[in-house]
Amino acid sequence: MNLYKYVSDAINATLGTPVNLEVPRNRDFGDFSTNAAMVMAKSAGKSPRELASEIATKLANLPFVADTSIAGPGFINIKLKDDFLIAPEKYNIVTPKSESFVVDLDYGSYNIGKALHIGHLRTTVVGDTFNRIARALGHKTKSYNHMGDWGRPMGLIIAWILEYGMPKNADDINVIYPASSARAKEDKAWLERAQKITVDLQNGNPEYLKIYNEFAPMSLAQISDILVRLNILPFDENKGERLVAEYVPAVQKILEEKQLLVSDAGAVIIPVKQETDTAPMPPVLWRSSTGAQTYAAADLAAIYYRTTTDKPNDIIYFTDNRQNLHFTQVFRAAKMAGMDSANLQHIGFGTITGADGKPFKTRDGDVPSLHQMVDMVADSVRARATESGKELSDKTIEIIALAALKFNDLMHDVKSDYVFDVDSVTQFEGRTGPYILYTAVRLNAVVKKAKDMHVLANTDIKTLQSEERNLLLRAMDFERVLENAFAQRATDMIANYTYDLCQLINTFYHNCPILRDDVPENVRAGRLHIVQIARATLLMAIDLMGLIVPDEM
Ligand code: ARG
Repeated sequence: MNLYKYVSDAINATLGTPVNLEVPRNRDFGDFSTNAAMVMAKSAGKSPRELASEIATKLANLPFVADTSIAGPGFINIKLKDDFLIAPEKYNIVTPKSESFVVDLDYGSYNIGKALHIGHLRTTVVGDTFNRIARALGHKTKSYNHMGDWGRPMGLIIAWILEYGMPKNADDINVIYPASSARAKEDKAWLERAQKITVDLQNGNPEYLKIYNEFAPMSLAQISDILVRLNILPFDENKGERLVAEYVPAVQKILEEKQLLVSDAGAVIIPVKQETDTAPMPPVLWRSSTGAQTYAAADLAAIYYRTTTDKPNDIIYFTDNRQNLHFTQVFRAAKMAGMDSANLQHIGFGTITGADGKPFKTRDGDVPSLHQMVDMVADSVRARATESGKELSDKTIEIIALAALKFNDLMHDVKSDYVFDVDSVTQFEGRTGPYILYTAVRLNAVVKKAKDMHVLANTDIKTLQSEERNLLLRAMDFERVLENAFAQRATDMIANYTYDLCQLINTFYHNCPILRDDVPENVRAGRLHIVQIARATLLMAIDLMGLIVPDEM
C-alpha cells in the first residue's frame, strides 16, 4: 500500500488543490505534515496561521485523521487514527498499475566462452531485481541477454578449435578464449587469422557456423548454471550480437538514407560529435576496417529490433561505467537515425573493490568467478555458524551466502564503487543479507507457533503502541518505495527500505510480546495481524531482491 499517496490524494481532494505533503523525521507530533497554509496564505489574503487553523479543521474531519495541530509559522501536523493504520479499508501490498510501461532491459549480456566473474555481479543482480520490481508494479518487461558472441572473441575461439578440436568437457570451454587471446597478443599471424575467421563467420562460412552452433549452446549452458545458482530469473531473450545481425542491413539502409555513414581508412564510421561537446567524442565505428560487424553496430541493430517489435517506452542498459562513452555514442547515432522512439538509458555501475580500493581480487590475485564468489561467501557463513554452535545444512548455508552477496550488492548506490569484504557481508547483525533473512525466519516462526496455538489474527486492537504504529507506517510505505526505485532506477532503495523494515520489526518484536500468556486476547490478535502485514511485506521485498528465506537459521 502507498499510504503517502492515499493521504495525499485525500488532502488534495479536500483542499481542491495539490499541496506538499511531508513525512516528518520525528513523528511525535504527526505522521505527515504540510506547509499548505504558508504557500496559500498570500493568495487567500489571510495570515498563514489563520489559514492553517482553517485547513487543520477541515483535515481533522477526514475519516482517517485522528487530529491535527499547528506548529511554527503555520505548519500543519496530521496524525492518523490507530484503527485506520491497523485496518485501512483495503490493504494490498502492491497494486499493479493499470497504465503500465513496456520496458526492455539489457543486463547480464555475457560474452561467449568466458566464465562469469565478479564484473558480472552487479549487472546480473541489479538487473534482475530491477526486472522483478518493474513486474511487481505491473509494467511489461522483456529482459535481454545481449550475448557477446559474434565479434573477435568468437573468431579467436574458432581459430583455436580448428587447431585443437572441440572442448571435451565443460571445464575446458572457458579456457579457450583466454588462451587464444593471449596467443594473439604475441603472434600477429594468429590474430589476423582470427580476424579473418570473424569476418568469414559473419558472412556465413558453413564450417565456422557449425563450430559456432556447437560451441554456443555449451557456453550458454554454463552461464545458465551460475544464473540458476544465483536465483536469477531466466532471460526472456538470449538475443545478442549474432541474432541481431540480421537487422544490420535494415539499419545500414536507414543510415545511408540519412547520409550518416562516412568512410574512414577502410572502416565506416558515424560521426556523432556535437558542437556543444567539451569532452572528446569519437565517431561510432559502424564497420571495422577488417570488414567485421562491430560492437556498436550490434547495439544499433538491437535497438532497431527492440523498438520495432516490443515498441518499448524505455530501453535500459545495465553495465559498468566503462561503457558510458559507448552508450552515449550509440544513443546519439540512434537518435540521428530516428530510431529513438524509446527512451534510451544507460545505468553505469561503479567497481567492486578490495580494501585497497583496487578491483577486488582473490588471495591468489585472480579475478574471482561468480562461482568462486559464492563459494567464498559460503565458507564465511559456514565458519560463522560453526563458531556460534549452529548446525546449518549445506542448503541453508548456500541460501544465506546468496543473500549476503546479493544484498550487499543491492544496498549500494549502483553508480558508486564499493568495497567487498567477505566477513562483513556475512554478519548476522547489521545491514546484511543474513540479518534480513534472520528477521524473516523469526516472523515465520511466530506465525507457525500462532497457528499451532490456534491463535487467530484480527484488527480489534483499538490503540497502538509506538512500535506498532511505526512498523505499520513503514510497511504501508512499501509501494511508494518500489515506485521510486523504479522511477529512479535505484534498486538500493528497496534494499535499504528492507533493512529499515527489519529494524522496526525487531524493535516491535522485543517490545510487544505476542504469544506470551499475559497478553490480552485482542492485543495478541492485533499484534499477530501486524506480524502478518510486516511478514507479507518483508517476504515480497526479499523475493524482489531474488533472495530465498531458509527454513531455519
Ligand atoms: N558483452 C558486453 C561486455 O561484456 C556487455 C554488453 C552490454 N550490453 C549491450 N547491449 N552492449 O562488455
